[in-house]
Formats: sequence, structure tokens, C-alpha cells
Amino acid sequence: MVLKSSLTITFSLVAFLGFAQKLKPVDQRVDELLAKMTLVEKIGQLNQYTSDRLATGPIAPNSNKFNDIKQGRLGSMLNVEGAKETRMVQEYAMQSRLKIPLLFGRDVIHGYRVTFPVPLAEASSWDLNAIELSARIAATEAAAAGLHWTFAPMVDISRDPRWGRVVEGAGEDPYLGSLIAKARVKGFQGKQLGDLDAVMACAKHFAAYGAAIAGRDYNSVDISERALWEIYLPPFKAAVDAGAATFMNSFNDLNGIPATGNKYLQRDILKGKWQYSGFVVSDWASIAEMVAHGYAKDKSQAAERAILAGSDMDMEGNAYISSLSNLVKLGKVPESLIDDAVRRILRKKFELGLFEDPFRFSDEKREKKVLGAQEHHKAALEAAEKSIVLLKNENQLLPLDRTMKKIAVIGPLAKSGYDMRGAWSVYWKDDHLVSLYEGLQAKLNGKAQLLYAKGCGIEDTSTAGFTEAVETARKADVVIMAVGEKWDMSGEAKSRSDIRIPGVQEELIEAVKATGKKVVVLVMAGRPLIFNYTAANADAILYTWFLGSEAGNAMANVLYGDYNPSGKLPITFPRAQGQIPIYYNYRNTGRPLTGKDMSYKSAYIDVSNKPAYAFGYGLSYTSFSMSNLQLSKKDLKTDGTLKVTFTITNTGKYSGEEVVQLYLHDLVASVARPVKELKDFQKVKLAPNESKTLTFEIDKEKLSFYNEAMHWGTEPGEFKLMIGNSSDNILLETNFVLNN
Ligand code: NOJ
Repeated sequence: MVLKSSLTITFSLVAFLGFAQKLKPVDQRVDELLAKMTLVEKIGQLNQYTSDRLATGPIAPNSNKFNDIKQGRLGSMLNVEGAKETRMVQEYAMQSRLKIPLLFGRDVIHGYRVTFPVPLAEASSWDLNAIELSARIAATEAAAAGLHWTFAPMVDISRDPRWGRVVEGAGEDPYLGSLIAKARVKGFQGKQLGDLDAVMACAKHFAAYGAAIAGRDYNSVDISERALWEIYLPPFKAAVDAGAATFMNSFNDLNGIPATGNKYLQRDILKGKWQYSGFVVSDWASIAEMVAHGYAKDKSQAAERAILAGSDMDMEGNAYISSLSNLVKLGKVPESLIDDAVRRILRKKFELGLFEDPFRFSDEKREKKVLGAQEHHKAALEAAEKSIVLLKNENQLLPLDRTMKKIAVIGPLAKSGYDMRGAWSVYWKDDHLVSLYEGLQAKLNGKAQLLYAKGCGIEDTSTAGFTEAVETARKADVVIMAVGEKWDMSGEAKSRSDIRIPGVQEELIEAVKATGKKVVVLVMAGRPLIFNYTAANADAILYTWFLGSEAGNAMANVLYGDYNPSGKLPITFPRAQGQIPIYYNYRNTGRPLTGKDMSYKSAYIDVSNKPAYAFGYGLSYTSFSMSNLQLSKKDLKTDGTLKVTFTITNTGKYSGEEVVQLYLHDLVASVARPVKELKDFQKVKLAPNESKTLTFEIDKEKLSFYNEAMHWGTEPGEFKLMIGNSSDNILLETNFVLNN
């Protein structure tokens, strides 16, 4: 009895002390803890190892991870998976002197168990709510599987489809990219860190990784200060504004200085000018790799340069834990810098509530309930439908006529659910990935007959399967072809010098097309591909990217018109490899190509300047008209607002959505400005014959740019305003003047 009451008192006291602790401001708790830590324990917080599960780079030789954890020499792990495993590993941290919980991070890039479309596909939806929801669901599942942190979103702008990692980003445009960065950060982090369905976001790769020379992964980046600020930095700033808890630096060097050791990027811009209070993790071994860059003579000097430059955590590089103590002792690294990095990391651990309960995310029951939930599949289906871009639809072949009774499905990707997972999904289950064939089967439900032939493999050079494919096509009322890349032909270290549709797939299309049958081509890929034969000859083309778990169902819905496609390309599609880098927001040059005369103009003698498909392009089963453009004034004062109104009408016979895009061109400025820059857009839904009046507002922010001295601001003068449904299809335009 006595024992019981004294135990109760003890428990209540512990609970009370815990509660009292929780009431203290996080910074105070961080400082109190920091004061108890030895230098080695501090450096331990800056150290991150991978589990043995997945290696996307060299594994640093380290003695015994679990022993390191017990000794407080490790602050975080990546690639630990699931509620059970994270709990087991966290137990080791609870055996350390100060019981500082570990952070568990992983690449949750486009969904966790339920796989969503690859990020570039989702960017094609131009639907910020859908994108936020996809990140929200990924976070809900990841957090239920014991994770605290996702290494996403990748907010790197890229103008080079050879670069395999275009698949992970939001395309080429800094404005669209910034809005998507925000949506993803908000989605991952939910209402607040500490909620059981929120994970820390990580804006990566800081910075300019997407400008790798010649599109070769990890390659050097050599860009102007202007390009850095105008093109590559805006989505990172947007991520800071959205409250991204962490940043990841990058493998590339920027004009000679590796991003990981780049003080200008990390200390001056990120932590200085932008006052970022989260922490920066290195990319995989990127600290140690500064030796190979030729920027450090050994690991120790690499560690010194990285910490001085503002890299807080060392991912799988073993550089900090092996060198920082000594560097502090030698006076090369002030301990105050280590303290600053530790504080940033501990703050997040407190915010996540890990000091109250280090196992709060590791709950197997919750994990079982949450992963793969029905409503997650529903959202994945909607996201997939919205990600599909209709590139061509001759004679309104689509949506398919339901009276057609024999449908041929041909091509190496027709029956592949496996490839629908896309480039960066590692937690999917095979039975959760619906192929095109399965999607069609479910849709038709016996009401039409599906005929199938593979035709060839994705990278085949043999045409042996063509005869069967042609015969199958002959028997059908219409042919649906599924071609493209394998799931792993894009992504990290998957740059390609030749981005045409691989193997003999276009020849297969040609052979099938020769039957005279109508052919719908679905292109599945993680990047823009070149497919000039198909573009010219297919009757209809859908660019489906990799759509995730619900891929086949989404494609079937679009093919039969149960969803009217509304996607728009977030990146320019070249027609020739030699056009790369190609992008819509170029500057005019002194010899722009206008009219037909090509002599001594900025052009190619063997190919048009025009892309195959422009940024912002995408068709619908219906059509839209835009009219009655009005400005609230023709002269705008710098602090004023200009209202732009116009009418959009659905002139076709299907209900549908249009992405209305607003572009500006500053005609004359102290620095030549791009011919067009996306400054706003709206996605609107209209029933047939329905009209809506839309309004955009133009203010100083939309008219500002970095002047010659790289100061952000406006200059008085004339602007051209363009409204259209693609960067190359402007339907309304007018000019206005900005006065001081
Ligand atoms: C290297 C990649 O560049 C990065 O994006 C990823 O988060 C890490 N590996 C961890 O897997």
C-alpha cells in the first residue's frame, strides 16, 4: 500500500516535471541541454548514418552504428524503415547518457505506400491544392511509419531534360516552381511539426543543382549571379517562407565552389539574408566528396570548410565525427559554430515532441491502419488524372467512343504496373500499382474486348514482335499504345545523352500506324522525351509520365472521358537534342528570329527554334475562348495595383478545366528582360457554354527584377501583358505603362 502510494507520488512528480519542462520555451530547453553536452556529444548530433537498407552512394566506414548511438555519437539516421525498426533503433539512443532522440529521415518523394505521380507529373497539374494534398498524404503515411523527416521537396529548377533528376522537380519555371515548393512544404509539415501526421520537409538541393553542365548528374554548375537569383533561388526562398524545417545542400560546385562548402550560399544567403532558422544537412557524403572536387586536401579540411560554410549535418560522410573535435581543439573551428548547428538540430527534435516521447511516431498499430488507406488511393487517382497532359487529339479521337468493341493495347509498358512506380518510390507494394491494361480491363468490365501484344521491350533493338503487334492492331477498332522509359531511366545518376523514346518503340508505332488504324499513344516517362515521328503521325497523344499506384485507372478514365485532361507542361519539350537547354523565358538577342527570313538570325540552319511542345501547353477535350480584356488603368504607379479582367468561355461540348496563364514582358529596361515571364495563373472549371469573368492583379512585386546592380525593384516603362493557355498560345494581349 505504502509502496503503491510512493510509486504514485514518484510517477506524478515525473509527469509534473515533464509537464513543467514542456512549458519552457524551446530555446531555453535547447540551451539547458546544450550546456550538459560534451564536445563529442555535440558533434554526434551533427552526424547522420544510413541504415544498411538502401545506399545511393558510398557507405562511410564506421565501426558500429548502434554503439555510436549509445555513445551519443549519432544524431540522425536515414533509411531506417517502419514503426518497428525505428523503435528498435531509437531504443539505442535511449541508452545514451543524455538520451537525445534520433531523427529518422528518408526520401519520401512522391508518396510512401500509396505512390503518387512523380513530382514533375504532379507539377503538370498546376493544381496547388492537389499537390499539397499529395504531400500531406505522403507525410501522414511516412509519419505513421516512424519517420520524422522527408528529404523533399526537390525544388531545383531545370532547363535540361537530359538531367535525370528533372523527374523530381517542378520543371523550368521559377514562379510555378516557387508555388509548388510552398505547396509541398505545407503539405509535408501540415499544421505544425509535432503533430503525428507531419514530417519535416527538406528543400533541396541548395543550390542550382538543376543547372548541371550538359545535363550530366553531379556535374559542375557555371551560371551568372543573375541566373542564380532569377531562376534557381526563388523556389528555395519560397520554401523558407513556407517554413521548411530543413535544407539539403548539393553535390555540384557553383562557379568553382562546391555547394556544400559554399559560404555565400549557406551563410550569406540562406542563414544571413533570408534569416533561416532551420538546419542544413549535406547531401550523401558531399562533405567528404569535396576532396574529389579538389576543394579540400583531406576529409578533415573538408569538414572544416563545410562547417564554416554553414552545413550543419553530415549525411553518411563520416567527416564531422572523425575530424571536428580535433579542428575545434586546433582552433580552426570555433565551438560556437558547432553550438549553433547543434541548437538548430535540437530545436527540431523538441518541436517534433521527441523529448516528451521518442517513440511517438513508432506505433505499429497506427502504421497498419494508415498505410495504403482507401482515401489515399482516391487522392492518388485524382492526382494522376490531373497530371496527364493531352498533347494531340486529331479529329477528336479522344475520348474513345464506347461503341468500339475491340481495343488493341500494344507496347512494352501496356502491362507494366511495376514501372508506374516512377523514379523515387521505395515503399510501394506490387499489388498496389495498376497498369494501363488492368485499368482498361476494370473500366470496360467485359463490355469491350481487349487485345494485347507487347511488340517489343523498352530498350529492344529487335523488331521480332512487330508482326504480332500489327496483326493485333488489324483486328481492332482502335489501338492504344504504351511506350516510353523504364521507371529507372530517370532519377539520380540517370542522365541520358539521347532522350528520344528508347529502342525500337517509335518504329513499332510506325508499323502499327501503317495498318491504317487510329492510334492513341501514351508516353510514360520521367522526363520530356523526343518523339517526332509520333508527334507527326499518331492520332492522339497523352503524356502520362509515371502516375503511381493508380496509373492505369487514371489513364482509363482519361481515355474514356470520365476525366477531361487538364494538365499543362511545366517544362519545354525539345524537338532536337541540339536545342537543349531550351526554355520559354529566354531573352530576345539582337537578332531575334522574326518572320521567315532566317539569314543572320539567332537560329539553327537545320532545325526550327520552336520546341516540340511549349511550356504551359496542354489540350482539353473541350475548347475555350477568351475575350473582353480590360485593364483598370493604362498607367500604373509603382505602389498601385492594376486589375486585369477578361472573360473565358467553354465553347466545346465537355465540361473541363483550363489553366489560364498570365505572362509579362518588360519591353525596355536597364537589363534586357525575358520575352515572357509567367507571373500568375488560375485553373478554372467550366461547363459547356459557361462563361466566367476572371481577374488578375498586377503589383510592384510582379514587375520587379534585379537591375544592373542586382537590386530588386521596378523601373518605369512599358510592359506587355499576355494571357493565354500556353506560353506559345497567347489569346489576349495589351500594353500598359508603369510610372514612378
Ligand atoms: C542523394 C540525393 O541527391 C538526395 O536527394 C537524397 O535525399 C539523398 N541521396 C538520400 O537518399
